[in-house]
This record gives sequence, structure tokens and C-alpha cells, in this order.
Amino acid sequence: MKRCLFLVVMTAFFAHWMACTEAVIDDGNSDPIPEVVKYDPDVKAIMVTHCEGCHSDEPAAPGGFPLTTYAHVKNWTENENLVDRVNDLAAPMPPGGLMPENERLTIDQWIADGYLEN
Ligand code: HEC
Repeated sequence: MKRCLFLVVMTAFFAHWMACTEAVIDDGNSDPIPEVVKYDPDVKAIMVTHCEGCHSDEPAAPGGFPLTTYAHVKNWTENENLVDRVNDLAAPMPPGGLMPENERLTIDQWIADGYLEN
């Protein structure tokens, strides 16, 4: 019985610890996912807030490539690893932590809707 209690306590502790180490950025955006997602305004707003600081048009931008136009973002989403990195707990983009879930799901919905531009 004692052992059982120990396990319960350890499990609770571990679950709590996991929840705290899962860094999710709080940008104050808790808007629901738009019913139909378009690059402009929905996905573009996410890029401006979370990506363009490093993925700008500057040749020396720290991210190494720009995410400032519809064509850039569509290409990196459709053919490269943008979605993987946006949801990658170990190496998230942006590097500071996962974006709020509604923003990550907005990108998923954009793909499902067929990469609408505006
Ligand atoms: C603080 C700077 C910074 C921000 C903000 C940032 N990135 Fe990055 N990004 C980098 C750097 C540096 C790399 C290259 C190193 C790496 O892959 O981790 C990179 C790499 C990537 C890669 C992988 C490229 C490859 O060749 O595999 C993708 C995809 C990406 N970023 C997308 C994004 C998206 C989408 C956002 C916003 C949601 C974002 N990044 C925000 C700095 C940033």
C-alpha cells in the first residue's frame, strides 16, 4: 500500500513537471481558429508575430531564409519542414518555445483548406 501511494505521488509529480517544461509561448492570442484560413490575414499574422524577426528579407537574417511572402510560406509548408518544426518540442520554431495551440492549428487548417492566399 505504501508503495502504491509512492507511485501515485511520483506520477503526479512527474506529470506536473512535464506540464511545466513544455514551453508554450503566451502571446495573448486565444482567438478561435478561423473557419476558413487564408494566408492573408491569418497565417501572415502568425509569421509577422513569431517568425519574421529572424526569417526576414535581410540577407543576413539569422533564420537564413525569408518567410515574408505567400510563396515563401507555402513552399516551406508544402515542400519543406515548416509544420514539423513548428510542432517540434525538442527544436521548436520559434526557438523560444511552441506557439499557442490555436496558432499551430491555424496553420494545419490552412493546409486543409488548400493554401488559400487571400
Ligand atoms: C530567434 C530567431 C528565429 C525565429 C523567431 C524563428 N526562427 Fe526559424 N530558424 C532560426 C534559425 C537560426 C534556424 C536554423 C537552425 C535550425 O534549424 O534550428 C531556423 C530554421 C528554421 C527552419 C528549418 C530550416 C531547415 O533548413 O531545415 C524552419 C522550417 C523554420 N526555421 C521556420 C520558422 C517559423 C515557421 C518560425 C515562426 C513560427 C520561425 N522559424 C521563427 C531562427 C528563428
